[in-house]
Amino acid sequence: MSDCPTRFALTTPLYYVNDLPHIGSAYTTIAADVLARFYRLQGAEVLLITGTDEHGQKIQRTAEKLGRSPQSHCDLIAAGFQDLWQQLNIHYDRFSRTTDPRHAAIVKEFFQRVWDNGDIYLGQQQGWYCVDCEEFKEERDLLANQHCPIHINRPVEWRDEKNYFFKLSKYQDALLAHYQAHPDFIQPPSRRNEVLSFVERGLQDFSISRVNLDWGFPIPVDPSHTIYVWFDALLGYVTALLEPDQAPTLENALKKWWPINLHLIGKDILRFHAVYWPAMLMSAGLPLPERVFGHGFLTKDGQKMGKSLGNTLNPYELVANFGADAVRYYFMKEIEFGRDGDYAETRFINIVNADLANDLGNLLNRTLKMAGKYCQGLVPAVDLQQLASEHPLMSLGQTAGATASQAYGELNFSLVCQTALTLARTGNKYLDDQAPWSLYKKGELDQVAEILYTVLESVRLAAFLLAPIIPHTATKIYQQLGYSSDFQQSQALKALAAHDQWGILPPGQPLASPEPVFQKLVAPEPVVV
Ligand code: MSP
Repeated sequence: MSDCPTRFALTTPLYYVNDLPHIGSAYTTIAADVLARFYRLQGAEVLLITGTDEHGQKIQRTAEKLGRSPQSHCDLIAAGFQDLWQQLNIHYDRFSRTTDPRHAAIVKEFFQRVWDNGDIYLGQQQGWYCVDCEEFKEERDLLANQHCPIHINRPVEWRDEKNYFFKLSKYQDALLAHYQAHPDFIQPPSRRNEVLSFVERGLQDFSISRVNLDWGFPIPVDPSHTIYVWFDALLGYVTALLEPDQAPTLENALKKWWPINLHLIGKDILRFHAVYWPAMLMSAGLPLPERVFGHGFLTKDGQKMGKSLGNTLNPYELVANFGADAVRYYFMKEIEFGRDGDYAETRFINIVNADLANDLGNLLNRTLKMAGKYCQGLVPAVDLQQLASEHPLMSLGQTAGATASQAYGELNFSLVCQTALTLARTGNKYLDDQAPWSLYKKGELDQVAEILYTVLESVRLAAFLLAPIIPHTATKIYQQLGYSSDFQQSQALKALAAHDQWGILPPGQPLASPEPVFQKLVAPEPVVV
């Protein structure tokens, strides 16, 4: 891709550790990993940051309920996140934990800057607090009986206490000017509009301290208050930028990777990232991140998911039953990134089997078998210059790389999958139409070679374009085509820089013996209780 950045830093949210990861956290993290892998394949230096948000009332109460110290609870759950990321084949560069002692130093220094700028004052906070959201709610946004619309099982709590406030209202005009000057700052456009109308309605200062809460950092100028969990958590992105051996100062943290190119988040935490966070950064005199992308929410069988509804989708079970590539593929292909989307098991199995086992896997398998029989198991020799310009596979292949690159850049993962699948489907049809087995019998060996080459090259290109999404399967395909490449090895990726072009497969390269690259999924037996 011509306009690929040479350096790209991106983040997932830092997840709360009140519980093990749910499918929503897995969804954001998969998307972030896919994008990071794409940029690495383009030769960029990438920093993928994920991690955990470990302070605040919600975590403190959860730990208490479980009879654990807050820290040991956090350690346990943070390890659970790392375990799932490994199973889902997430290749992150930094895992930022807000209980990391280095983070304390960064928060303190940042607080001081905002304080010195006159943007923090002591005031009286009255309002309804949702501990699960860790957010004050407007009365008009509550359901009947004082329940938060997101956490319908637990009532919000009335608070009337002294808090330190951040002067958000002071930044209203500067924020609007920034959105205007950087139309891509908030994506997709529907989320941008949401934020614009929220800010235009008028911003209120928000409280950044809590009393009667120990689990967090003390306010540097008044240790009887604890820093509000969101003020602390957003700065976890900055702490993550420190090299392991660097002293924890803002200067060090911001030297190489700031400003971050992309914050990937779910739509429920958009205001924090697109309003509060940029205002805090402005107050501290720092440049703003380039882009905030808010994706949609997942439902299961058309229903909102929730523990109380008993219909959660357990990401550990999903990956154990079906494997990382299948899970990654389904969510990237089937859900338009930015919109809400649904998971249903039958649909999941059907789609993954149709695309990966049948269209892509079988195409490779049957073509390799023919190459074994008709071409001594070598990539057939063809003169690409001699191919007709309207050759269906070549003409698709010549534009597929650019289409997919642009789609990745726009986070349109579904289009990437469709582009690769079109190559495979056209390859299947082309084989059926051309029937190389009959041509072979007639002794038309040049034509056979040309057909098999163009089909194998289409499978290669499809695998390459999908490699950020299904790295295991793409590696298997490449290895069957005679490469030693492994898409898991970041260092080896540079050698593949031109592989999004058509016509890369080297004639004469020995092919491996065909083996299914993707085992068909079957529904697990229901558990009998
Ligand atoms: N700790 C804060 C983030 C701080 S970032 C500095 C937080 N944590 S969280 O664990 O609640 O985040 C969960 C993430 O999962 C959010 O991006 C949220 O949008 C996402 N999802 C939660 N439920 C979801 C679905 N049902 N579907 C898709 N994503 C959802 O918020």
